[in-house]
Amino acid sequence: MSPFRLTRTLPEDATGAALRADVLAGLTRRPRSLPPKWFYDARGSELFDEITALPEYYPTRAEREILLARAGEIAAATGARTLVELGSGSSDKTRHLLDELDRLHTYVPVDVSESALAAAGSALAAERPGLHVHALVADFTSEVALPDTPGPRLVAFLGGTVGNLLPAERAAFLTSVRALLEPGDALLLGTDLVKDPAVLLAAYDDAAGVTAAFNRNVLRVLDRELGADFDAEAFGHVAVWDAEREWIEMRLRSHGARTVKIPALDLAVDFADGEELRTEVSAKFRPEGVAAELAAAGLERTHWWTDREDRFALSLSVAR
Ligand code: AVJ
Repeated sequence: MSPFRLTRTLPEDATGAALRADVLAGLTRRPRSLPPKWFYDARGSELFDEITALPEYYPTRAEREILLARAGEIAAATGARTLVELGSGSSDKTRHLLDELDRLHTYVPVDVSESALAAAGSALAAERPGLHVHALVADFTSEVALPDTPGPRLVAFLGGTVGNLLPAERAAFLTSVRALLEPGDALLLGTDLVKDPAVLLAAYDDAAGVTAAFNRNVLRVLDRELGADFDAEAFGHVAVWDAEREWIEMRLRSHGARTVKIPALDLAVDFADGEELRTEVSAKFRPEGVAAELAAAGLERTHWWTDREDRFALSLSVAR
């Protein structure tokens, strides 16, 4: 059994305070919106895992294909002794990387879902004798304080989750990742690519309705955490392709006019019939765009790999 530690970088109530601030800001402006990070309570993380197995949801499989093919090259190019994974979730795909990183000393999974971290982190520590696992319950969009572990460092941000940030948030995020690195350290970034909108829309509106359930789950989180009285089933799942901004938007559309009470915020929110609440942006990328965004943050892209169908890309960049 290897050492396993779990650190909450935020006091328990910082999460509650952040949720209240996000909900207050998002529901009192128009169009109404919520940040996607609040999907991921235990149920939401489970639903997301179900999404990754859907026939329509290709990103997870495409990224796994690339990781399987390229993990050896990634290990050789980085020589990483510490792997930090932002938004690690179930750490499922990471296993391919861990198999090849033969100089690895410590794995640092970072996630907002403590349940996912505890399960994945302790399992990994048990499976991999000699590997130090130091899990961090943290929001990777704010400051992350990393444990003091040997370099070189490789920060991995997989799954295309960078696409859930708006462009300005993305620039700030990449700059903060760069600040975690010494010159020569590396970033491994997963990005979903622009493609036929029909393929994209199916991936975010599957026939079995799992994505719809995942989307509605955020309302259950607000009901539970803030005492709200959203009737989740009264909201319809909507996925839209924004061709200009090249992103998918998920929304929840109110069936009928209603007033939702949110006691923890002392707030009542009126929804008109058909009014939509934006719950997620999932940006899709082009190779030039990714290179430019990385360069702007002081990261030089050295490798670009795609799956056989050119649906998804992994890029490796080095801190200058
Ligand atoms: C894995 C977080 C990037 O945007 O595709 C899946 C989340 N949303 N289906 C994505 C998600 C709807 C997902 N990320």
